Amino acid sequence: MTPTAEDRRAPLVDTFGRIHDNLRISVTDRCNIRCFYCMPEDDPGYLPRQEILHYEEIARFVRVAASLGVSKVRITGGEPLVRKDLPRLVELIGGIPGIRDIALTTNAVLLAGQARDLYNAGLRRLNIHLDTLDAARFQRITRRDDLGRVLAGIEAARAAGFPVIKINVVAVRDLIEPDIVPMARFGREHGFEVRYIEFMPLDHQGLWDRSRVLSMDQIKAMLEAEIGPLDEVPDPDPRAPATEFRWADGGGRLGFIASVTKPFCMNCNRLRLTSDGKLRYCLFAIDETDVKGVLRDGSRDEAVAEVIRGNVRSKWIGHQINTQLFVPPPRPMNAIGG
Ligand code: GTP
Ligand code: 5AD
Ligand code: SF4
Repeated sequence: MTPTAEDRRAPLVDTFGRIHDNLRISVTDRCNIRCFYCMPEDDPGYLPRQEILHYEEIARFVRVAASLGVSKVRITGGEPLVRKDLPRLVELIGGIPGIRDIALTTNAVLLAGQARDLYNAGLRRLNIHLDTLDAARFQRITRRDDLGRVLAGIEAARAAGFPVIKINVVAVRDLIEPDIVPMARFGREHGFEVRYIEFMPLDHQGLWDRSRVLSMDQIKAMLEAEIGPLDEVPDPDPRAPATEFRWADGGGRLGFIASVTKPFCMNCNRLRLTSDGKLRYCLFAIDETDVKGVLRDGSRDEAVAEVIRGNVRSKWIGHQINTQLFVPPPRPMNAIGG
């Protein structure tokens, strides 16, 4: 479809009126640990390296997206820190006019060696994935023995000066219950915002089942019974996935990402770029739009812009996890980036 003058100026609005200003960029599908709700135990068959976008290609994409109103970028993986010289990408993106927020989601295994360079490159917001503080349980969940490195990574991030560190806990029922309260205490003690994420059907092995979702309401009840009352915080960004609370005793904040029991699709402002250059309008999208082709065939920026607009125009109303219609996405979590 040829864009009208109106289209060219307009921000990325989909057919449900949602404005898209938030881009999640997966820089690799590779990961150095094997959390069972995301990765298979054995080699999952990674994307060939020549298929992966170069940093310059990503930066060009972001420049075009920023001209269409994208202002927030989050770098994800797989595990983004396994990609060489990530601070260079942070710097490239940070220099793009219109980008006012760059964040990173990491498992922190390699963070100790990179925290300072990332900070110096301009990164300020870090979300760290950590489900448990118990070494044996960490090994059971991630099939790796890296709890010490993760804790060192968190410590290094704090020492480097990151003002906001959030900790993501994936809430799998009949597994994570013993970690719910200790993780909250850890957040209270160190000033991290712990967020409990309802287990979503994104694992390789089809392990997800509704009965394995520990819900926001259940977790909140466990926390209030053990630690004390939580007050809901008026949301500074109603389009962010987390519902936020504050400990009534002044112990800091905590959040829930209740994608299954309280879907937030009508507030969705997110677009996703995969490491091999496909655009996805939803975490659970079945269809994706190739953008690598236009980034590599000499096309002008307008062609890239049209791919982005087209993907947003085709966006569906939201995921169907709670209906019989649900079909898991063809790409596993590690190749989408969450
Ligand atoms: P901030 O709000 O910027 O801190 O980031 P975030 O919470 O969106 O990012 P993060 O990568 O830490 O994601 C936390 C969890 O939220 C992950 O499990 C993501 O898969 C999930 N998530 C993020 N965006 C969406 C979304 O659009 N839909 C759904 N269903 N889940 C999402
Ligand atoms: N369900 C919910 N969250 C998940 N994550 C990974 N796999 C799942 C899943 N199946 C979370 C991790 C990671 C973030 C990007 O996604 O916490 O930090
Ligand atoms: Fe957006 Fe899809 Fe997430 Fe819903 S499930 S909030 S539509 S990305």
